[in-house]
Amino acid sequence: MTTTVPATGADRLDLAALVAAREPGRPLASPFYTSPAVFDADVAGVLAHTWLFVATEAELREPGDFLTVEVGSWSVIVVRDDDEVVRAFHNVCRHRGARILDERAGSVGNIVCGYHRWTYASDGSLLHAGDQPAGFDKSCFGLRSVHLRVVAGLVFVCLAPEPPTDFDEVAAVVAPYLLPHQLHRTKVAAQVDLVEEANWKLVMENNRECYHCEGGHPELICTFFPTYGYAEDAIPARLRPAHERYLRAEAELERACEERGMPYRAVEDLQDRVSAFRVQREALDGAGESYTLDGRSASRRLLGDLDSPRLGRLSLHTQPNAWFHFLADHAVTFSVLPISADRTLVRTTWLVHEDAEEGVDYDVEHLTHVWRETNEQDSAFCARAQQGVSSPAYLPGPYAASEYQVDAFTSWYLDRTKEHLAR
Ligand code: FES
Ligand SMILES: [Fe+2]
Repeated sequence: MTTTVPATGADRLDLAALVAAREPGRPLASPFYTSPAVFDADVAGVLAHTWLFVATEAELREPGDFLTVEVGSWSVIVVRDDDEVVRAFHNVCRHRGARILDERAGSVGNIVCGYHRWTYASDGSLLHAGDQPAGFDKSCFGLRSVHLRVVAGLVFVCLAPEPPTDFDEVAAVVAPYLLPHQLHRTKVAAQVDLVEEANWKLVMENNRECYHCEGGHPELICTFFPTYGYAEDAIPARLRPAHERYLRAEAELERACEERGMPYRAVEDLQDRVSAFRVQREALDGAGESYTLDGRSASRRLLGDLDSPRLGRLSLHTQPNAWFHFLADHAVTFSVLPISADRTLVRTTWLVHEDAEEGVDYDVEHLTHVWRETNEQDSAFCARAQQGVSSPAYLPGPYAASEYQVDAFTSWYLDRTKEHLAR
């Protein structure tokens, strides 16, 4: 089926034709990154039909703790109810549709709409609606629920009535990698919202390669090997010394994981399933412990019951909107929340052991330094990319071999868009 979606001005875009015109091995055409109409199709057809990472359980520690997330014009409340169950609801009142909660996060007893005071329990049921006629059935007007899954402390939602069914398979693969970090015993040490002046796909694509790391991320490459994504025989001569260190550090990490029964090998399924993902535990450079300039731990209290700080980085990527790094001493999560065709919120959250004491076991500035700097650098790269792809002179150029995950992402995205067009 060919679906024509309205674009800005007098133009009209044929999304099916745009998808069909994509040249394999090259980035997407300009309208995919710039058109409000394509953005609307992304939200309705791709983001609403996949599992979105929106929060960690550590942000919802007590009954009544809530947060709100927005994706395009959707708004969702995620709340821990009085029975300690984490739930998600559309942030839309069942009376006349007002946005109910404005705050990004907080704590509530009941969920009260500020317009005419309809009052909902934390499990979404309607408790009170004033001045309704006899026979009004409150049980018919609870908040509309949103599908939610918690995977080892990570909270995902799906806006579609029928979410992708492959997510449980993915969770079963990923959870054993995460469990040693015991995210349910963590707390939020810091959270930073960064609005990037770029389309959400540019933000995701930028994260899928380290082609830009060597020159672009001086703090990150103190510990993150800039050979990420390179095939063994394609590593440039200048990166060979780093690769030799990587091989030695990997051998040590493999021994440490084998001794502890921790999974570490890469599982990569980035294109052929809806809930596409990649997970792997890999060694870090420097002291090999954490994302700091010297590679030493940033928190003295290790996560869970881990007995060694040298357990590298467990890196997880989930499409469409997240990546994660779990270290022995802390975890850092990244949630990509599209705002408009050319603006994207990136929410970064640092988690430490729930008993770690700020100022004693960790210093927030030290803990967050590398990824705050890296995020700002990435944000600048993405903004430049957005400017470039918005130019009439833009022509998609070829991906490098080490950008194969970017290619996988864009191909996955086009497959989801084709599914949307066929719905
Ligand atoms: S719209 Fe919420 S109470 Fe009226
Ligand atoms: Fe980057």
